[in-house]
Amino acid sequence: MIPAFLYGDFMVGQDTAQIVSQMRKFIQLLAQHNHAYYVMDQPTITDHEYDQLFHQLKDLEQQYPDLMQSDTPTQVVGGKALAKFTNVVHAVPMLSLGNVFNRDDLYAFARRVEERLPGQTIHYDVELKLDGLAVSLWYEQGTLIRGVTRGDGESGEDITQNIKTIRNLPKQLHTQDGVIPQLLEVRGEVLIPKSGFERLNALHERKGEKLFANPRNAAAGSLRQLDPEIAASRPLAFYAYSVAQCEPNHGLDTMHATLQWLTTLGFQIAERQYVCHSIEEVQARYEEIQQERADLAVEIDGMVIKVDDLKQQKQLGFLSREPRFATAYKFPAVAALTKVIQIDWQVGRTGTLTPVARLEPVLVGGVTVSNVTLHNIGEIYRLDIRIGDTVSVYRTGDVIPKVERVWHDLRVEPLTQVTLPEHCPICESPVVMPEGEALARCSGGLYCSAQRVEAIRHFVSRKAMDIEGLGDRWVESLLHLDLLKDVSDIYQLHQHQSALLQLDKMGEKSVQNLLDAIEKSKTITLARFIYALGIRGVGETTARMLANTFPSIEHLRQADIDALKKTPDVGHITAEWIIDFFQAKHNIEVLDKLLAVDFVWEQHTVSSQQPLNGESWVLTGTLSTLTREQATHMLQALGARVSGSISSKTKCLVAGEKAGSKLEKAKKLELQILSEDEFIAFMQSHGQSIDG
Ligand code: IVH
Repeated sequence: MIPAFLYGDFMVGQDTAQIVSQMRKFIQLLAQHNHAYYVMDQPTITDHEYDQLFHQLKDLEQQYPDLMQSDTPTQVVGGKALAKFTNVVHAVPMLSLGNVFNRDDLYAFARRVEERLPGQTIHYDVELKLDGLAVSLWYEQGTLIRGVTRGDGESGEDITQNIKTIRNLPKQLHTQDGVIPQLLEVRGEVLIPKSGFERLNALHERKGEKLFANPRNAAAGSLRQLDPEIAASRPLAFYAYSVAQCEPNHGLDTMHATLQWLTTLGFQIAERQYVCHSIEEVQARYEEIQQERADLAVEIDGMVIKVDDLKQQKQLGFLSREPRFATAYKFPAVAALTKVIQIDWQVGRTGTLTPVARLEPVLVGGVTVSNVTLHNIGEIYRLDIRIGDTVSVYRTGDVIPKVERVWHDLRVEPLTQVTLPEHCPICESPVVMPEGEALARCSGGLYCSAQRVEAIRHFVSRKAMDIEGLGDRWVESLLHLDLLKDVSDIYQLHQHQSALLQLDKMGEKSVQNLLDAIEKSKTITLARFIYALGIRGVGETTARMLANTFPSIEHLRQADIDALKKTPDVGHITAEWIIDFFQAKHNIEVLDKLLAVDFVWEQHTVSSQQPLNGESWVLTGTLSTLTREQATHMLQALGARVSGSISSKTKCLVAGEKAGSKLEKAKKLELQILSEDEFIAFMQSHGQSIDG
């Protein structure tokens, strides 16, 4: 059973037509993938996904048995065999196994076995569940006569020619005691071990041929080749796991002994196999193998648990198409199917709007997942995900779940399409997303409560208003007391001295220090003030350039896009961000309150202030109007250090003609990049001339 999939809840209140429609969609989709898998050898979904879809349908049919469709695949085994090989009817049908997915299911399997074998001691043969293709091998007088695929379980394809190319498989049986059965039908899995798979794909890559998605696909594709030469060139291997017929009978009592006997005849069996004396021991082996899975030579997708005693196996018999004496114990899902119930937008501390899909809770790799980030609106378009959609949720190596696939074919209309909200869900400021940007943002930077802490922290920081004493803890407490709703409230704090004094550890002295620091911050350069506003794209340097271009904050806020773009370092996108910022109604309110404060605008004197103090700059490419040396001297004169390599500490890259890897790296790190012209303008704005 697939745990925790809440289709039932979802379907409550839905009418019959909708349920039937949903069932039809599942059937159609499964048939399509069955064809792709069995006939075309080109699966477009993973086996796990197939299993998930299959179980969804089964669950639905269990809930609404009256609505079960006559052509449902849950009532037949596997897919149809290919026409191009001769069809062979299996003398003993090749059935499938039931599945268990967790300890409770496993113990329930054991209970069912015990109930049918009262008072008997039960041992379990525990094997790897090999992830390849089941085949049947027919030996007469010790000679391999025929190899047949499982097909639909009743009949399969005669692939003898290809089977005979498999190197680890005996074409002629031999034993030490010389006793060879007249008739032996051995079943097992054909697969390509991991190492062979890597070699095969490497070879294909060198030859520019199509790569295989996984060893299983490679094995399937190889077995279905009509030309045995091709099969011979593939590193196929056969691992035996059961005996369907043996005449005269081998006389062995247990599964385990049978497998050992097969090895004496020349067959290879899987690299691990255990006899367990209790179901608890089976569980322990399962956990152990799960840990060792990556180290095995072959791909496995779980374990197969079989009652070891062959007489007991016979006693237990079969239930419809599955043996009662065996079950597959699959490894936990790393992917699961569920439904999207809502898509919300979260506003981050820097104003980024992130869509989050709310899901019907589903177990993925042992963890319940009910939310998954969709990253950005582009991802929503790319996946074409809508409210009501069925999705596969994956958990990758770490713990972050991810929507891997949206099952568009399972849609039952109407579904709600999701668009980018026009207004911030938190503060209702306009949401903006300039062309070429992947992320949408709330433009209410100074006002939005989701961004408040970050906006205040930035505003008071050393390179901005430099208000010492207003650390994170105080900001949080003041926000909590509602004394600080936006940055303009900082300049009203002097009216709340008594409230401040009541704050934890806020003595008279620290309150006074804080108020003094606030007072001191009123004398400020325009550049610092612009920087303090936290306008997207406006770092220290840009702020300084803006302050050089516009004589006051009033001039700046009135500037149109063309005027802004005349500022060195301000391109179209930054200009748009600046306009958005000053147009957002709530920002205007905060700014008006802020400007009511009697700031004293300090003029910065370029030479004494060393504006690039401590900054690391890098020069790259060919500069046409000045030499590297000149550029270096100019930067050093402003206090910058000129470094030969880019790192995250680099403040700015000056990129001349034919800039190469440094430019790429700077872009990757999203560092500030100046063209030669911008660099010269920047230098001029700082009183540096290029003639000298
Ligand atoms: S015994 C009655 N043992 O699992 C079926 N099967 O879902 C008895 N498989 O088609 C099968 N490893 O291809 C058995 N150690 C193993 C297996 C194994 C893989 C596959 C097999 C079969 C499928 C059943």
